[in-house]
Amino acid sequence: MPRAEVGSEQRVEPAERIAGELRVPGDKSIAHRALMLTTLAQGESWIGGLPEGEDVAATVACLRGLGATVQRGGGAARIRGAGLRSFATPHGSLDCANSGTTMRLLLGLLAGSWVSATLDGDASLRRRPMARVVEPLRSMGASIDASEGRPPLTVRGRRLQGRRHVLPLPSAQVKSALLLAGLSASGPTTVVEPVATRDHTERLLRAMGTDVRTTPGGVEIRPSHQPLRPIELAVPGDFSSAAFWMAAAASRPGGSVTIHDVGLNPTRTAFLALLQAMGADVQVDLEEGGIEPRGMVTVVGRPLRAVALRAADVAAAIDEIPVLLVLATQADGLTTVDGAGELRVKESDRIATMAAGLRRMGAIVDERADGVSIDGPVALQGADVDGHGDHRIAMALAVAALSASGPTTISGADSVAVSYPNFFTELRTISLRSQGTAGWGP
Ligand code: S3P
Repeated sequence: MPRAEVGSEQRVEPAERIAGELRVPGDKSIAHRALMLTTLAQGESWIGGLPEGEDVAATVACLRGLGATVQRGGGAARIRGAGLRSFATPHGSLDCANSGTTMRLLLGLLAGSWVSATLDGDASLRRRPMARVVEPLRSMGASIDASEGRPPLTVRGRRLQGRRHVLPLPSAQVKSALLLAGLSASGPTTVVEPVATRDHTERLLRAMGTDVRTTPGGVEIRPSHQPLRPIELAVPGDFSSAAFWMAAAASRPGGSVTIHDVGLNPTRTAFLALLQAMGADVQVDLEEGGIEPRGMVTVVGRPLRAVALRAADVAAAIDEIPVLLVLATQADGLTTVDGAGELRVKESDRIATMAAGLRRMGAIVDERADGVSIDGPVALQGADVDGHGDHRIAMALAVAALSASGPTTISGADSVAVSYPNFFTELRTISLRSQGTAGWGP
């Protein structure tokens, strides 16, 4: 569903009961990486289960701008890869739209290429910090112009030298950018992380024949002298999108949602353990064997209790924290989230935007520089809230609205098109109003 059809304002009615079974759009972290890496392969790759959201569309458009052949249709893509050397200098800048992953990973990929390109994005992306990826790439010999460490970024491809990076912050985007740069550098590139982050890049690189090894606290890549092997990959559902339905089920006793064919990579699923720690009933049916584990998850709501999250917990569930804050409003006791400064530099300042939205609905929120606490349980009231153009904030507030008394109106709700264009339609299908009647009016 294109953004125009979602509507920038959405009214969400309280649900009497939450129940349903669904699938969610394909994982966008995996999709970005698979698209980029298959353009580097020699030969034709197929990627199924591609999400329709705007972030992945931005990656496709950027790759086409670099001369890659990506044919999309029926939720899949065929990519005729011809290696990094087949990239051509684009006409005009490459528009990464709202997608930090597109910008940071492409920067790493292009740093060691033969082309020059300017990477730009929307107002939110232009505010996001890029020094975290620009500086370590420069230390490998990359030529990148960035005014005050913010987009637009101009990269001129250079011969890079592999090296060892010790990251001060956990970031899968930075790690992946450095691994992609390492692919064409001379000598090995090592990335040491303070906390292990999502490993989709490593899994794909290995499946495509690259020498990627786990080292103490990190990962090492050796430059590939052989072209990458093409792949066939069915992208599983996005765990971070599924998390909204899991939270909806958990938000009150008796709620129940099953999500089929969702990605269950262990570097992504820390939220399941947090749900259990809060008291929800979580059943997982895991299928392993492919490049990425996947399976079925059922969450059943039980009375919730507060939890205390530290920096490592935040890193492991970075995209699920907004919706966890919604659950905190329904949990007994004080939920504390510390070491969460990174949330302030996402698509919005997610500590501030969640605190503002939940307070308007009656939550008791204490906001700190790098954390937030919520005292519960409280009876939420419907309110006019702002999604601040951030897809995950709009979706988290919509989940909160299901438990409120009275309707909630979310402005800036069309941002869900970034990762989950169909979100509000699915919300209606799991939200039962009376005697099993599904849904509420548009
Ligand atoms: C992502 C990594 C995370 C996450 C983002 C997607 C990725 O960002 O928040 O939604 O695909 O690598 P950081 O690397 O900034 O933590």
